Amino acid sequence: MKFFADTAEIADIRELQASGLLDGVTTNPSLVKKSGRDFLEMIKEIAGVCPGPVSAEVVALDHEGMMKEAEVLRKIADNIAVKVPLTIDGLKSCKKLSADGTMVNVTLCFSANQALLAAKAGAAFISPFVGRLDDLGQPGIELIADIRTIYDNYDFPTQILVASVRNSIHVLDAAKLGADVMTAPPSVIWQLFKHPLTDSGIASFLKDWETTGQKIG
Ligand code: E4P
Repeated sequence: MKFFADTAEIADIRELQASGLLDGVTTNPSLVKKSGRDFLEMIKEIAGVCPGPVSAEVVALDHEGMMKEAEVLRKIADNIAVKVPLTIDGLKSCKKLSADGTMVNVTLCFSANQALLAAKAGAAFISPFVGRLDDLGQPGIELIADIRTIYDNYDFPTQILVASVRNSIHVLDAAKLGADVMTAPPSVIWQLFKHPLTDSGIASFLKDWETTGQKIG
């Protein structure tokens, strides 16, 4: 499963990139607001740091407006994935951009039928939001299982990009269900490395090693 960072903070992206485990980045208008940076400059910088797909979202709601914005975004770098909302105009734009060879990430997906439409529109990625469904009391992860079944039934190449990931259980469940990608805030990704038994195991091994008086090399 690929790991994307759901952030617009360049320092976090650099740190994750250095771990060798980062496969891409997703941003959205709220994350851009949080960063306080110029959107286009920021996307260019991220695309230079992370060679994997970097999602940049359009804000126009109509097809024509989306296509104009997509034109600006896709010119920034070869690894830009244009992010469009799961609306009729979004899917029309997805179809056209994908046919043109542009990676498209269809976002704000909350049902399996919406995911089916995105695959038919040629999306490179579909972003089902598990955390926001959980917030409403609907198990978001069940949506991932349904989309996996549908995409496998028809061999759709669209990658399932599990979004709105809030914790390590979401990551584990997504991986067990065979999701292609998950995008999570950096804090959730770093949390995956941690286990108290790893820390106490290192401490006790080092304590014993010191008593041997040996050195490696
Ligand atoms: C995905 O592309 C979105 O940017 C993101 O995962 C939304 O997460 P949230 O529901 O925590 O805002």
